[in-house]
Amino acid sequence: MLTVDVPVHPKRERNYRSGFARVRSGGVLEALKLKPSIILEAMTHPAWVIEYIGLGDAPTLGNWAPHAGNGVSKAEVINFGRTQTPASAQTWRDLERYRRLFPRALVVKGILNPADAVRAAEIGVDGIIVSNHGGRQLDQAPASLEALPAIKAAIGDTLTVMLDSGVRRGADILIAFCLGAQFVFFGRPTLYGAVAGGLPGVKKVVEIFRGEIDLVMGQIGCPSLDQLGPDFLWREDWAQNR
Ligand SMILES: Cc1cc2nc3c(=O)[nH]c(=O)nc-3n(C[C@H](O)[C@H](O)[C@H](O)COP(=O)(O)O)c2cc1C
Repeated sequence: MLTVDVPVHPKRERNYRSGFARVRSGGVLEALKLKPSIILEAMTHPAWVIEYIGLGDAPTLGNWAPHAGNGVSKAEVINFGRTQTPASAQTWRDLERYRRLFPRALVVKGILNPADAVRAAEIGVDGIIVSNHGGRQLDQAPASLEALPAIKAAIGDTLTVMLDSGVRRGADILIAFCLGAQFVFFGRPTLYGAVAGGLPGVKKVVEIFRGEIDLVMGQIGCPSLDQLGPDFLWREDWAQNR
């Protein structure tokens, strides 16, 4: 999955306010700018700090690697990220190159413009994720649900269309299915669950979504997910592809 909607780092004022910052290797001066609360947090998680220093970068990029079962290490993943064209300089030609080099399912995440979806389809990607990065990137970006109908109208069933950003209720998932999304993801709800209750908290979040899906399916009188479609939508602009 190639994320294309973070060419530059956004101005996340809430992070400035809370003192959140990423410390790059050798960034001692940057580290000195960290608030005492963050330093305290780091001291209570020595394993994270050792990992951070060992990798020379935040470990998040390679988090999946040990679980992928293909022998790829975190360090290799991070190294791959570093040796690629920086996101701010990437063009469609880079995507064409990734397509040539990568024989498995290739997904582009962060599409909102139908013309971009068409271009990605022409390059031969297997899927796109319609996303505004959870509204964390560009304040003025439209909601991904609002962007979905025009994208779906432009590319039809030529590739797998997925969606995330702002999904907070089972009904949000069903609306996205009605508009043609084949997969719907949520990000922060699982994090909120983890903060509130660890792994059981995450499971609880999934349960809540499941329960709401069942409830709304009953409320709209639809017996199975594959029967969802624009007929179940009220808003004219959402139902125009009926
Ligand atoms: C803390 C945090 C870190 C994220 N990091 C990445 C990332 O590294 N790459 C990426 O493509 N998206 C990243 N995202 C965006 C999510 O993949 C996803 O698009 C978004 O959270 C969906 O919106 P939602 O949180 O409203 O469900 C991040 C989101 C959060 C909350």
